[in-house]
Amino acid sequence: MAKKRVFSGIQPTGQIHLGNYLGAVKNWVDSQDEYENIFCVVNSHAITTTQDPKELKEKTYELAGMLLACGIDVEKSNLFIQSEIDEHPALAWILDCNIPMGEMNRMTQFKDKSSKNAKNVNVGLFNYPALMAADILLYQSDGVPVGEDQKQHLELSRNVAMKFNRDFGECFKIPEPLIPKVGARVMGLDDPSVKMSKSAKGNNHAIFLLDSPEEILKKFKKATTDSHNAIIFDETRAGVYNLLSIYEVFTHKSREMIENEFAHKGYGEFKIAVAEVVIEALRPIQEEYLRLSTEKGYIQKVLRAGADKVRPLAKATYQKAKDLVGLV
Ligand code: TYM
Repeated sequence: MAKKRVFSGIQPTGQIHLGNYLGAVKNWVDSQDEYENIFCVVNSHAITTTQDPKELKEKTYELAGMLLACGIDVEKSNLFIQSEIDEHPALAWILDCNIPMGEMNRMTQFKDKSSKNAKNVNVGLFNYPALMAADILLYQSDGVPVGEDQKQHLELSRNVAMKFNRDFGECFKIPEPLIPKVGARVMGLDDPSVKMSKSAKGNNHAIFLLDSPEEILKKFKKATTDSHNAIIFDETRAGVYNLLSIYEVFTHKSREMIENEFAHKGYGEFKIAVAEVVIEALRPIQEEYLRLSTEKGYIQKVLRAGADKVRPLAKATYQKAKDLVGLV
């Protein structure tokens, strides 16, 4: 039986952090054998917020290198850069003409990003979900492995695909969100009431995948917890719950085992234990990233091959959509 196809993307903005890794990238890597995989550095999405052009180019390749270092295996997965395939913005336009304003107006990420970015609220930022829907629908994807914050965008992708199929004839597969049970919403270490994000200010907010062991330890030691002392999985205690969840994903231990392990320990010891598993998990990724950073030619070759491999699929879907709506 043919494998199901997954598509997912990540923006080359800021630095990749533990939330991106646990919510998305780790799952891409872990399920590479199960699916036919297409992963994309979504640089066209990145320009919906202000970017330095030279830096954006560098970050695009650096992020691709990081994805390879995390374990994306080019024998099993296609990795490419979004702007290398013109059908993404082209299909986004057709989708735009089929997304009701009311539905787009409801997108909470737009509200959130535009309030944080008051000086540059542009049409592209508003339209971000249409380009994301195009990314997914172009490849007839069955599943989309993402963190929880992308749920609403995926719902919009599904809705526009269903509406299009109904109005013009069968064209797109309806994609399912693939959201992990643990790690789908990693919270800020300094403020566990907000999700860990690339743009949040504050030195102690996020663990970046390239942080040194010393930085990781320092950040975990300073992580906000609470005035209770029981180390148990209680979602109402966001700080401790966040740290426990991070520990759970990396150790693969059961919640019961973890609670027993820390039953007679204090927050100090607990935080060091969490930091240690994160440091050990990131160590091989950091080493491989360093090695790959001297192989820029190889990374570019991989990305070009990835784009060449998936382009025919994108072209075929786009041609079909174009034809169905009456464009010559
Ligand atoms: P981006 O770059 O903001 O995030 C990349 C992935 O990381 C997940 N993520 C998190 N998961 C858990 N906890 C967090 N604190 C956390 N922060 C981020 C995101 O859910 C995402 O899976 N819009 C997408 C990029 C995109 C895309 C696509 C994804 C563009 N086109 C098509 C899937 C399919 C985004 O937010 O990227």
